Amino acid sequence: MVMVVSYVFLVLTILSMDLWISQATSRHETSIADYHQQWMIQFSRAYMNESEKQMRLRVFKKNLEFIENFNNKRNQSYKLGVNEFTDLTDEEFLATHTCLTDTNVTSPLPPWNWNASNHVGESKDWVKEGAVTPAKRQGGCGACWAFSAIAAVEGLTKISQGNLVSLSAQQLIDCDRERDHGCKGGSMRYAFKYIVSNKGIASDQSYPYQMKDGICRSNVTPAMQISGFNAVPTNNESALLEAVSIQPISVGLAARKDSFIHYSSGVYNDGDCGTDMNHAVTLVGYGRSPEGIKYWLAKNSWGKSWGENGFIRLRRDVEWPYGMCGVAQYASFPVA
Ligand SMILES: *[C@@H]1O[C@H](CO)[C@@H](O)[C@H](O)[C@H]1NC(C)=O
Ligand SMILES: *[C@@H]1O[C@H](CO)[C@@H](O)[C@H](O)[C@H]1NC(C)=O
Ligand SMILES: *[C@@H]1O[C@H](CO)[C@@H](O)[C@H](O)[C@H]1NC(C)=O
Ligand SMILES: *[C@@H]1O[C@H](CO)[C@@H](O)[C@H](O)[C@H]1NC(C)=O
Ligand SMILES: *[C@@H]1O[C@H](CO)[C@@H](O)[C@H](O)[C@H]1NC(C)=O
Repeated sequence: MVMVVSYVFLVLTILSMDLWISQATSRHETSIADYHQQWMIQFSRAYMNESEKQMRLRVFKKNLEFIENFNNKRNQSYKLGVNEFTDLTDEEFLATHTCLTDTNVTSPLPPWNWNASNHVGESKDWVKEGAVTPAKRQGGCGACWAFSAIAAVEGLTKISQGNLVSLSAQQLIDCDRERDHGCKGGSMRYAFKYIVSNKGIASDQSYPYQMKDGICRSNVTPAMQISGFNAVPTNNESALLEAVSIQPISVGLAARKDSFIHYSSGVYNDGDCGTDMNHAVTLVGYGRSPEGIKYWLAKNSWGKSWGENGFIRLRRDVEWPYGMCGVAQYASFPVA
């Protein structure tokens, strides 16, 4: 691991020579090809044939160039980096790794029913409090909605009952078909609705992830139950803060920007990421960075090679009401 990290560091140092962008010498070309080869081993990537490999190498180089140019800019609160998706174009990646559908925020919902607390602390980290399982990996199945909902139910169960159990996204993909569409997208609210009406959801262990649509196994034993679900008032980061101080919260996100796709660490801050939600994650904390930037801590479902071990910190309390990448637009949570 240390060797891989130092190799990556070495290669990125080589790439940062400004020479390589304008007039890449054959030596640099070789370095990038070597790096790509190393990366293929690291992520167990295999290509069909040499022409596909060359095509992927070109995409890989283009992404490296983007990452390196971004990281060379001064005064950014976050960094981009190489991960298991670096040989995909942004379009290819988004086509399979996002999912959110049916996000009609005006549709009827149970009323906001908790009493506002003035005791929201400076920071909260549900990961440190043991209420969050490690980041999962949706792979090429557009089921972020299921992962977002599952993480909120896992957190609630830990908080209300004391045990952290990894729950089944696959059951939602296979069985929650009234309004959701498995690997073709869905929405967390209908996932919660399914869990209520199904009287629970199975553990990951008894209903493991298949990364594709499957036939519903209706005979599995539920591991956890919820009694209902609720929505956080829209476009209000103060209300969202109260909510996250109580439990992990499912949120929609506009995750279309290349900066988001290649995010690696720090507090993500790209005012251009917009509000057009295509993705879903789970807010599992908040705080302030050592530089004083307020953030939301979000759990993603793109594996552990993306971001901070699969998590991202998003700038909090932005100047516009819908939040960074629209994080405050479509927040909801299960009720014990
Ligand atoms: C290489 O593999 C790609 C992807 O499977 C395929 O489309 C292409 O026809 C193959 N090319 C050759 C030369 O075999
Ligand atoms: C760096 O960014 C911070 C926060 O956005 C800003 O307050 C500061 O003025 C910036 N410094 C420079 C040198 O641009
Ligand atoms: C959203 O839901 C509301 C209330 O159910 C409905 O009146 C409206 O037509 C829906 N909007 C869209 C775009 O589906
Ligand atoms: C909020 O407070 C009221 C009055 O104290 C109480 O009746 C109600 O059950 C509380 N609601 C919640 C969700 O705790
Ligand atoms: C936002 O939520 C807070 C906390 O619940 C509430 O006090 C405030 O009135 C809300 N602001 C708006 C504009 O609705």
